[in-house]
Amino acid sequence: MERLQKVIANSGYCSRRKAEELILNGLVTVNGEIIKQLGTKVSNKDMIMVNGTSITKETKEYYLLNKPRGVITSTSDDKNRKTVIDLIDTTKRIYPVGRLDYDTTGILILTNDGELANGLMHPKNKIDKVYVAKVEGIFTKKDVLNLSKGVVIDGIKTSRSRVRIKKIDKKTNTSMIEITIHEGRNHQVKRMFEAIGFRVKKLKRERYDFLDLHGLTSGDYRVLTPKEVKKLYNSIGK
Ligand code: URA
Repeated sequence: MERLQKVIANSGYCSRRKAEELILNGLVTVNGEIIKQLGTKVSNKDMIMVNGTSITKETKEYYLLNKPRGVITSTSDDKNRKTVIDLIDTTKRIYPVGRLDYDTTGILILTNDGELANGLMHPKNKIDKVYVAKVEGIFTKKDVLNLSKGVVIDGIKTSRSRVRIKKIDKKTNTSMIEITIHEGRNHQVKRMFEAIGFRVKKLKRERYDFLDLHGLTSGDYRVLTPKEVKKLYNSIGK
C-alpha cells in the first residue's frame, strides 16, 4: 500500500506537490469515489483517476549520458538554456541523478526511478565517482597527499579520496589529476582543488560506480541494461 499522492507522482502524471493539490481540489477518484484526504493508502488493485485520466504505473527508464559542456543538469532552466533532458528522446518525466556543473562533462545517469536515484545519491551508500581534472600548475606528491587526506570545505572536512597524477605538462603549466570521491557536495571537486591552491580548468567525470563512458562520445547516450540496473540496486544495498 502506498500514499495516493506518491502513486500519482510515480505514474509520471505530475509532481508530488501537484498531486496533493489535485487531491485537495477533489479531482482524484479511487474506485469511482472522490478522495480529498492526503495520504490515503492505495494498492495496485485500486482504480485511480485524475481529472478523468486513469493512472497506471509508469515503466522505469534508465539512461547513461556523456554530458557535453554548456548544458545544465536540471529538468528545466529559467534562462532557457539547454538541459540534459533535452538531449534524451523520451516522453517520460526523467531526471538526472546528481549534478554536473554547466562546464563539466562526462557520465550522468538519468531515470524516472526515484528509489534508485535517491539510493545512489545517499551519502551512506558511498558510490564512487571518478573525475579527471585539468588544473593550472604543477602537481607534486605532497599535493596528492594533501588532497587525498581530505580538505576542509565550508568548515567540514571531505572524506579521504584516491588521487593520482595522470600527466604533468611543464610547457603549458598544467596537470591532469584523477580523483575518486564518493561524496557529492556542491562543486566538490573544484572546491577541493581550490582548497589546496589549484584552479580547475577542465573537469570530466569518467566513471560512476562500475559504469564508464565506453562507446559514448560527447552528447551520446544509451539505455542501461537490466543487468546494469540490477548491479546499481546491489550498490545501494537492495
Ligand atoms: N565537482 C565539481 O566541482 N563539479 C562537478 O560538476 C562535479 C563535481
